[in-house]
Amino acid sequence: MAVSTESRHGMWSSRWLFVLAAAGSAVGLGNIWKFPYIAGENGGGAFVLIYLACVAFVGLPIMMAEVLIGREGRQSPINTMRALVQQHHRSPAWVLIGWMGVLAGFLILSYYTVIAGWALYYIFEMASGAMTGASGDVAASTFNDFLADPWQLLFWQTLFMAGTVFIVARGVIKGLETAIRWFMPLLFVLLFVLLGYAVTTEGFQQGWDFMFAFNWETVSGDTVLIAMGQAFFTLSLGMGAIMAYGAYVPSSASIGSTVAIIAGLDTLVAVAAGLAIFPIVFANGLEPGQGPGLMFVTIPLAFGQMPLGALFGTLFFVLVSFAAITSAISISEPALAYLVETYNAKRSRVAISLGVISWIIGIGTVLSFNLWADVHIVGERTFFDFVDHVSQNIMLPLGGMLIALFAAWGLPKTVVGSQLGLQKPWVNVVWKLLCGVVAPLGVAVVFVATLFG
Ligand code: PFF
Repeated sequence: MAVSTESRHGMWSSRWLFVLAAAGSAVGLGNIWKFPYIAGENGGGAFVLIYLACVAFVGLPIMMAEVLIGREGRQSPINTMRALVQQHHRSPAWVLIGWMGVLAGFLILSYYTVIAGWALYYIFEMASGAMTGASGDVAASTFNDFLADPWQLLFWQTLFMAGTVFIVARGVIKGLETAIRWFMPLLFVLLFVLLGYAVTTEGFQQGWDFMFAFNWETVSGDTVLIAMGQAFFTLSLGMGAIMAYGAYVPSSASIGSTVAIIAGLDTLVAVAAGLAIFPIVFANGLEPGQGPGLMFVTIPLAFGQMPLGALFGTLFFVLVSFAAITSAISISEPALAYLVETYNAKRSRVAISLGVISWIIGIGTVLSFNLWADVHIVGERTFFDFVDHVSQNIMLPLGGMLIALFAAWGLPKTVVGSQLGLQKPWVNVVWKLLCGVVAPLGVAVVFVATLFG
């Protein structure tokens, strides 16, 4: 079978649009909401450094593998894997990578839209001026009152899901290109405004130390598992989202440098968000380990104390919602592209069906913060904690490990060489070492270590 140079779903018009789209997928709630709150829950410094190591040694090779496989197959992850195993006479079991990614996508999208709904709500909360001059207590109680009302959460979740479905139905490329060009850069600017403010607060030194002072005592097997899961989540790896986007990358783009830029931008945003949030936490005597509400309490509080805070705060939550929607779209792309290819289904119909299924699962997360707060699925985990844990800390690393193994050992070296644009023997050796040994072994070691305590 000849390798096609175009995808039927369309193509990014340049390498830079792929960088923007993949960065749009990577940069989202994972950086601004999740990274600070789980760093806070896991004691800061050591967690952050383990996370950075996971990005560099596990995330980067796996991201290259995803783009490479996607571009080689030029279809949805499931069909790409199908075509590649046939072409290279490998076991059909590898196609499970695609199916597991689709399942992980449903689970992640289900709660992602709930949290993104909180960001939508805060656009209006900030615009109303209710947070202007608010104290830490007021900011916290505003958030807690909001969480306690399942109807409110359901309303904002539904609105966000409808927005996602609307864009997805139009096609990623058409729906996204123009928007990404404008909003991503603006988000960077605003994050740096916030960071500038954080530097002036008296909590800055403490926030800095919290993020970067390495303290072994805070590290357990679980910490490492969570840091690794976060690396996968924040880079959108392990479920085929980047593989699906990789299918639309022009053949001429260099994979290595492109991936390094995407991962670099993503890490920059996460670290900037942490450095903006923790000083505010300490300056106001708040608790770094307070959980999922961390961003929704600290950021309104910070803007409430700034001149023109209502305006900047509103804009900030608009941009966070936008960052979230560019990520949400990529989460649904593997399943969507598969259904469109396989059944020749209409994109809009498929988008609505996927949205409805994910929305229904998401109701479990809505209720986890109020009516079902005391319902524990496994151990101490609420429905939200459970779905989050299984998808982020188990499915994504497992999927990523299999993707790396396939890219290193399942594809002939001529394919790898031509995709990487270098037919030198050392390229193959480095590729096998990074993708075939270091990255999968890293995941395996963390899994085994967690199982045995
Ligand atoms: N990377 C996104 C974030 O950090 O918010 C979330 C995400 C997108 C996870 C796409 C997984 C995915 F496939």
